[in-house]
Order: sequence, then structure tokens, then C-alpha cells
Amino acid sequence: MINIIVTGASGMIGSKLLRLLPNDFRLVKNIDRTEGLDILNYPGLLTTLSSARADVIVHMAAFTDVNAAARQEGKSEGLCFQINVTGTRNIVKLAKQLNCQLIHISTDYVFDGTKTGEYLETDKPNPIEWYGKTKYEAEKIVLGSDIKWCIVRTAYPFLAEFPGKFDLVRSRIKQMKDGNLPPQFTDHIITPTSADQLSIGLFKLIRAKALGIYHLVGDTSLSDFDITTEIAKQFGFDETEITKSSLAEFNKSAPRPYQQQMAMSNQKFKSQFGNTFSSFPEALAAIKIQMKEVEKLI
Ligand SMILES: NC(=O)c1ccc[n+]([C@@H]2O[C@H](COP(=O)([O-])OP(=O)(O)OC[C@H]3O[C@@H](n4cnc5c(N)ncnc54)[C@H](OP(=O)(O)O)[C@@H]3O)[C@@H](O)[C@H]2O)c1
Repeated sequence: MINIIVTGASGMIGSKLLRLLPNDFRLVKNIDRTEGLDILNYPGLLTTLSSARADVIVHMAAFTDVNAAARQEGKSEGLCFQINVTGTRNIVKLAKQLNCQLIHISTDYVFDGTKTGEYLETDKPNPIEWYGKTKYEAEKIVLGSDIKWCIVRTAYPFLAEFPGKFDLVRSRIKQMKDGNLPPQFTDHIITPTSADQLSIGLFKLIRAKALGIYHLVGDTSLSDFDITTEIAKQFGFDETEITKSSLAEFNKSAPRPYQQQMAMSNQKFKSQFGNTFSSFPEALAAIKIQMKEVEKLI
């Protein structure tokens, strides 16, 4: 049995991970504020967890609102820095105290989006906005620690259902339903990732006690325009109504910088752990089936 502590399990990715938890895993504790536990309160964490027996902490808790983060740029007293950096420092201390491994969830936003080709684990991060900067600071704390660590970078997770917030796929569906889809960037390349497949990838890493950095992302990197066209095809919207625009143009007057070329490679993970991630159309088709199941229950 693998005993895990999870932070941020009430979040979008965390809730999916818990729903898919395999039989050989046991949840020791979920650390988030719904449980009355705050990663900024280290003494509180110790009081609750000092005698916990855990093999691994999966650290997903974070300040994830990128636009709100931008409004805190440079402020180490701001909530974004506090949760992402100070919070991670506390979780590293907790992993050391409990003598367990740490899987730290990070993001493609640590990169600047200027690479021609896919980002690899060996590429040097160079974040260009505050959320990415705080997530990179957190990575450096993990990297510089003497615990057993694994950093998992993922990108644009999507899933069939999560009432807490919209992901890429569900927000495009809503915009097309409501008839207010904005023009779609043809020069913004991202790597959408099924949250189901991400969870399975995480279980594989945990079972293998994997160390180091891994990119757990979907198999396909594509533009916003191509993503939305695929969603329209599969969900029965008129794809000819999707109009095009350019992120390079938008960036000239954008309130914050947006990374442009964010193709990510999952080759390192795939070569060690086999096929887990699928192409975007395949992952989307699987999500569509799950959405239908959810609709039946409502
Ligand atoms: N969503 C994405 O597009 C994306 C992409 C790449 C990487 N990631 C990374 O994946 C991880 C999970 O993302 P997500 O989208 O699932 O996050 P999310 O839905 O925004 O959830 C964030 C989680 O963090 C918890 N949290 C926030 N502040 C906390 C605190 N002070 N103490 C304890 N818990 C706290 C929240 O719980 P409470 O508010 O209840 O405390 C919630 O469970 C993050 O590390 C994020 O950086 C996300």
C-alpha cells in the first residue's frame, strides 16, 4: 500500500486524482483549507501530521489565477508568492520531517514561450509573468532541497466536470453555446492535457518512486484555433464560424505578457513509462463520453 498526503485535493486536478485513486494507494490526509489546513501555517501542519506515516506528498496546492497573479507582480507579501513559494517551502520542510518523497506539481508557465520546437525537461526555465515566476521559485526550492523530489510540469488540464472553475475545453464549449467565442489565436501553441491521463501518469511516477523532472502533458501541441476547431467538430458546433486572430498582435497591448510557443514534450515520461497520454482529439472524445455520463445523472 502506498500512503499519500495530497495538498490542493479540492482543486481541479486534485479532485480528479482522488477520484481515480487506485486500490494500492491510501489517502492519509488532504491538506487544503476545506480541511482546515493551510500550507502557510507550518506549525498547524505539524500538529496535524507529525505522526503521519506517508510515503509521498503530492503537492498541488497553489495560487493558480494567472491574471490575479499579474496584479501582484513583484510583491513577495502577495498571496500568489506566499502560497506558491512560502507554501512550497513549508511542504518541503514537511516532507523532510516525515521522511517521505515529494511530488511537486508545476507548470509550462515556467518557460518564456520563445522556443521553436517542444520544451524538454532539460530546457532552462525563464518565466515572463508573475504566476510563472512564483512557480519557478517554488521549483528552485524543491530542486535545492535534500529530500527525494520529483517535479511534474503539466499544461492546460481539462476534464469532463469540475464545478469550481472552467478549463480550456469547457470554457470553449460554453462560449460557442452562448455565441460569444472570441477570435482564436493561430500563433499561440499549447499542449492540452487530459486530467485523467495526468492522474494516471502521476500514479505511475509514484509507484516507480521516480525522481527528477518530468513533463506530463498530452501528445499534441496545437494552436487555440485548431483546438477550438476540434472541439467544434466533436461537439457539433459550426466550425466555419470560428474566426482567427494573432497572439503576437494581441501581446502588443495586452495587460500582461502571454507566452506564445508552449509546445511541451512528454517523450522522457513516455520512454520510461509507456503510452499514457493520447492525441488531443482522442482525449477530447473520451471527455465527451464522460460528459454524457454526467448529463445522464443530472
Ligand atoms: N489548471 C491549470 O491550467 C494548470 C496548468 C499547469 C499546472 N497547474 C498546477 O497544477 C496544480 C493544481 O492546479 P489546479 O488548477 O488543480 O488548482 P486549483 O483548482 O486552483 O486548486 C488549487 C488548490 O490549492 C488549494 N490551496 C490554495 N491555497 C492554499 C493554502 N494556503 N493552503 C492549502 N491549500 C491551498 C486550494 O484549496 P483551498 O482554496 O480550499 O484551500 C485548491 O485545492 C497547481 O500546482 C498548478 O500550479 C495547473
